[in-house]
Amino acid sequence: MSFLFSQSPPLQAAIIGANRGIGLGFIRHLLRDSRIGTIYGTYRHGERAQDLLQLAQSGSDRLIPVQLDVTQESELAQWSDRLGQQHQQLHLLINCVGVLHDGPDIQPEKSLRQIDSDRLLHYFRINSIPSVLLAKHLMPLFRHQQPSLFASISAKVGSIGDNDLGGWYGYRASKAALNMLMHTTAIEYARRCPQTCVICLHPGTTDTDLSQPFQRNVPPGKLFPVEKTVAQLMEVIETRTLDDSGQFFSWDGRPLPW
Ligand SMILES: NC(=O)c1ccc[n+]([C@@H]2O[C@H](COP(=O)([O-])OP(=O)(O)OC[C@H]3O[C@@H](n4cnc5c(N)ncnc54)[C@H](OP(=O)(O)O)[C@@H]3O)[C@@H](O)[C@H]2O)c1
Repeated sequence: MSFLFSQSPPLQAAIIGANRGIGLGFIRHLLRDSRIGTIYGTYRHGERAQDLLQLAQSGSDRLIPVQLDVTQESELAQWSDRLGQQHQQLHLLINCVGVLHDGPDIQPEKSLRQIDSDRLLHYFRINSIPSVLLAKHLMPLFRHQQPSLFASISAKVGSIGDNDLGGWYGYRASKAALNMLMHTTAIEYARRCPQTCVICLHPGTTDTDLSQPFQRNVPPGKLFPVEKTVAQLMEVIETRTLDDSGQFFSWDGRPLPW
């Protein structure tokens, strides 16, 4: 029996970074799941969120698009206040925001020669900090007695124990920092939101804009379509219990080393 879905539906969900890639995949998947009620889907720019906005317009009043930049703490605080005033609760949150490359200045480093402090900070600002800001500002929405789960999409390359290849300094380090921030959050949530399981997830290499420039090195069969990644991650989510809080799981449910 699933811990998260052991309660009576509907559950309230929030997908952060829902405008494209894995986040948009979660939106499509959850819209087909009758156990889920309201789904908040966040995006930064309307012009980059046409698919999400169209899904909301084309019939589903369960989907509520929210314009929000998770790197801006004041915007998160305002959203949390709005939800609190409406007496909303959350049972499932998945933060899908992340960056690996972004124009000529943000490309993963191949060597120490390419280390640049602004680029490192850019990776940390997007890949590490938003999840802990979400945990801080949305904590009141998880302070209830129903089973809940707070997931951050991390990456196996953020595992220090698994790093035999090197390179990608900023991306790796920012995901390692995300993992530590979420492990620490899990310890505090166990006291303050004791029904919320906090986990990090590795999605596997998935066919999105993020992996696109690096796909030629991926062995056949190891590049997952978004739908497959989302179905696999939902299986991992459904089979977690509170005992799993604070851990880092791969797409196939295996725990990953820190
Ligand atoms: N795809 C893979 O193979 C793979 C493998 C391992 C881990 N991951 C992780 O999985 C998660 C989802 O990745 P994806 O493949 O779905 O990537 P994606 O298609 O590139 O989507 C990235 C998401 O992050 C948001 N984002 C990017 N830069 C941002 C910024 N500066 N401020 C705020 N939001 C920003 C994007 O919003 P905008 O459209 O507004 O930029 C978008 O919603 C990421 O955490 C990634 O690290 C992916």
